[in-house]
Amino acid sequence: MERTEFFETAVQQGFYGNEKTSLWGKKDNVRRFWEDIFTKLLLRPAVAQLLKEEPRLRVVDLGCGSGEGLDLLRHIPLGASPHEPSQNFLLNWPEIEIYDGVDLSSAMILQGQTNYANRDNAQFPVGDLSQGFPLTDRPPYHLYLSTYASLSHLTFPELEHLLCDIFKHAQEHAYVLIDVYGRWSPEWPVYWSASASKLEPYTMAYLYDQRQLDRESVEWFKVSYWTAAELESAVRRAAEKAGVRVNVSAMKDRSILVGRRS
Ligand SMILES: C[S@@+](CC[C@H](N)C(=O)[O-])C[C@H]1O[C@@H](n2cnc3c(N)ncnc32)[C@H](O)[C@@H]1O
Repeated sequence: MERTEFFETAVQQGFYGNEKTSLWGKKDNVRRFWEDIFTKLLLRPAVAQLLKEEPRLRVVDLGCGSGEGLDLLRHIPLGASPHEPSQNFLLNWPEIEIYDGVDLSSAMILQGQTNYANRDNAQFPVGDLSQGFPLTDRPPYHLYLSTYASLSHLTFPELEHLLCDIFKHAQEHAYVLIDVYGRWSPEWPVYWSASASKLEPYTMAYLYDQRQLDRESVEWFKVSYWTAAELESAVRRAAEKAGVRVNVSAMKDRSILVGRRS
């Protein structure tokens, strides 16, 4: 499939609107109650630190879909327990100077603009990250964010190139959060012996109601599966090329034993 062909269809079918949580769909319970919480807790110390230094944050979301990263950022729990409903989130609208959501898919961008039509500080430019960082003409961001494996749509060299551009663009103190498919996930042992840097098939058939799914018509596309060591090396090489110092503060595995993708 072409790079964004699957996602154009997913938007048309309503998966990127303001969908409620359920057993199926993009915001199914695995995403809502495990993956989202995990990501928010990973973001919390970085956002808390940035807010000590800056009154308002500039954020870019790489492969933003319809603005899912913005929704995550605005719902980072303050309390000790992430499961307690709370109105007290860490980052609120007044503390967001700009959220720029970049995506290659114009259907995603249009959906993002619709979801945040009343927010001037949420912008959705179209951009192809496989060609490097597209917003070099904009002021540096405090947070370069990418959620739910958008960067696995890039090849190994493309991601390294993108990181190099980002490191050149960022100011001295910025955070970069990269989310990619991990090679060693218990969900796909078939890829454990795959050769590094080769794109391998992936499907998002878990979006559909499994009771009605016609397995023959499931769409597949190719993505990169990374090991932590490969990713860390790419980050370090990109930093060296950009001439900056990076601190890899955390490498986390969000996979669970019984996956929704199996
Ligand atoms: C799995 S979705 C994730 C969307 C969103 N970040 C989320 O958290 O749900 C992957 C996104 O990456 C985008 N994408 C794929 N290749 C891209 C590229 N070369 N440049 C920019 N975006 C790309 C797709 O259009 C899609 O919106």
